[in-house]
Amino acid sequence: MHSSGTLRIHELSPEEQTVYATLKPERLPEHVAIIMDGNGRWAGQRSLKRFFGHQQGARSVQMVTETASRIGLPWLTLYAFSLENNLRRPRAEVNFLMRLLKSYLESNVQRMMDNNVRIRYIGRTHDLPPEVQEKMRWAEEITARNTGTTLTLALNYGGRSELVDAFRRLAAEIQHKHISADHITEQDIHRHLYTAHMPDPDLLIRTSGEMRISNFLPWQIAYTEIFVTERYWPDFRGIHLLEAIADFQRRERRYGGLGEDCGEVEDDPERIHIAAS
Ligand code: FPP
Repeated sequence: MHSSGTLRIHELSPEEQTVYATLKPERLPEHVAIIMDGNGRWAGQRSLKRFFGHQQGARSVQMVTETASRIGLPWLTLYAFSLENNLRRPRAEVNFLMRLLKSYLESNVQRMMDNNVRIRYIGRTHDLPPEVQEKMRWAEEITARNTGTTLTLALNYGGRSELVDAFRRLAAEIQHKHISADHITEQDIHRHLYTAHMPDPDLLIRTSGEMRISNFLPWQIAYTEIFVTERYWPDFRGIHLLEAIADFQRRERRYGGLGEDCGEVEDDPERIHIAAS
């Protein structure tokens, strides 16, 4: 069930090891997705420009990815840049985020190699500046054969536009194969998502306290457990990932079925009289 990368628990910090010791290794999530929020507020609290918040946020990305790789988490997906960020943020901030991404990839590929991390992307990445796309491809190719954590950055990503892209491809396919629309299944839609090669997230973390999904993986998180922390992303570290996993492990996932304390199940529901309301 888990990645073929070896566990490197001894590389966790002593504090992380203490939290890791409380986890059930056989019930680790396979896929954790994170909405990284609060960079701007983190900077604002310190009377710094928003850019500093993003810069610190990039450090959190590396730290959290390394902890994920040490515990053998197979899939980590981070919402780094949404379609809406691209359209609605000031150009100067968007340009800064693009430069930050490029420099992040340049300076962290070696650490990804050291940590057996493979990098991938989801989103309408073909609309990003060509020099950014080039750096993205470069990092993807270098890390392609790593077998530990797959770090997926959602870039110029929007959940609804992912569905539009999927439906367009599916429509072209059924037209080409002369298949009736009545035969479309959930599996067919899944096959055309950007995430077709990954399991759905088990756990979605959102930092900075907002109770929103913000158009992140809307199809994929149908049964995902959600963990919201007040902590701003630039302050989020590996230990907080482990704490979120500990919280996740205390929950019971039912996928629409019945849980342990669900009440007695009636053997013959036909016998039950339904009172008129
Ligand atoms: C949300 O904070 C964060 C973003 C819009 C961008 C996320 C980017 C990073 C974490 C850094 C770069 C990432 C990589 C992979 C190099 P916000 O600006 O919305 O914060 P606010 O809500 O407090 O204003």
